[in-house]
Amino acid sequence: MARLTGKTALVTGSTQGIGAACALRLATEGAHVALNGRHRDERAENLLADIAAIGGTATFIEADIGSAQGAIALVGQAVLTLGRLDILVNNAGMERNASFWDVTEEDYDAVMNVNLKGVFFGTQAFVRQCRATGRPGAVVNMSSVHEEIAFPHFAAYCASKGALRMLTRNLATELAPLGIRINNVAPGAIATPINAKLMADKAQLAKVTANIPLQRMGTPEEVAAVVAFLASDDAAYVTGSTYSVDGGLTYSYTEQ
Ligand code: BGC
Repeated sequence: MARLTGKTALVTGSTQGIGAACALRLATEGAHVALNGRHRDERAENLLADIAAIGGTATFIEADIGSAQGAIALVGQAVLTLGRLDILVNNAGMERNASFWDVTEEDYDAVMNVNLKGVFFGTQAFVRQCRATGRPGAVVNMSSVHEEIAFPHFAAYCASKGALRMLTRNLATELAPLGIRINNVAPGAIATPINAKLMADKAQLAKVTANIPLQRMGTPEEVAAVVAFLASDDAAYVTGSTYSVDGGLTYSYTEQ
C-alpha cells in the first residue's frame, strides 16, 4: 500500500518497539521519515538500513524530547531536513513502576516531561509550521489503554496518558479549522522493550494474557497499522478519537 507517497513524517522515539515499527510502516507506505532517538545507536542504524532495504527514505535526528526546547528543536530539524512536515507521530514515552507513596519528584518529572510536555510543545511547533505554510497535517499520539483504565503503581504514567486524551480532544476541536487532524492510539500489552520484565516472567505474563480476550500480547506492527491509517487520508474524517489496539483488554471482564 502506498497511501503516504510524497508525505513527510516525524516519528519520535523510533529506535525501538512501537516507534520503530511505525517508522518502518510509514516508510513502506511511501512517506519520507525522520527517525528520532536520544542517540544514534546501533538500533537506529539497523532501522535506517531496514528502511533503505525496502526502497524507503529516512533520516535520523538525535534529540531528547523531554523538554519543550528539545521537542521544538527536533521538529525544526525535521522540517529543515525533509522540507516540511505533514505527519507527526508523538510516539516517545516512558513509564516508571513505583507505589504512589514512593514516587519521587524526579520520577514524576521524567514521565510527565516525555509523555506530556514534549508532546505538547512538539505538537505546537508542528502546528506552527502548518499554519505558516498553510498546509494541513495529521498528528497521531501514542497513548495507552491507561488513558482510560487504572494501572496501580503507575500513577504518573496514567496521569500523563489521561492528560494526553484530553489534549487530543481539545486540539482536535481547536485545530480542525486549520485542516489538522489529531488522534490517539491506545495500545494494550504489546511485545516491546517497555514490557521486557513482564515478558521474562512467565507466570505474570500468563496472568496478563488471561485477562486479554484475544489471549496474547500484541505486536508493534499491529499498532503501526492503525497509526498508518490515522496518518493517511483514509482517516480524513477522523479526529479527536482514540483507537484501542488492545486485544479487547479495555472492556474485558470475566468471573470464570
Ligand atoms: C504499558 C505497558 C502495559 C500495557 C497494558 C501500556 O501502556 O506501557 O507496560 O503492559 O499498557 O497494561
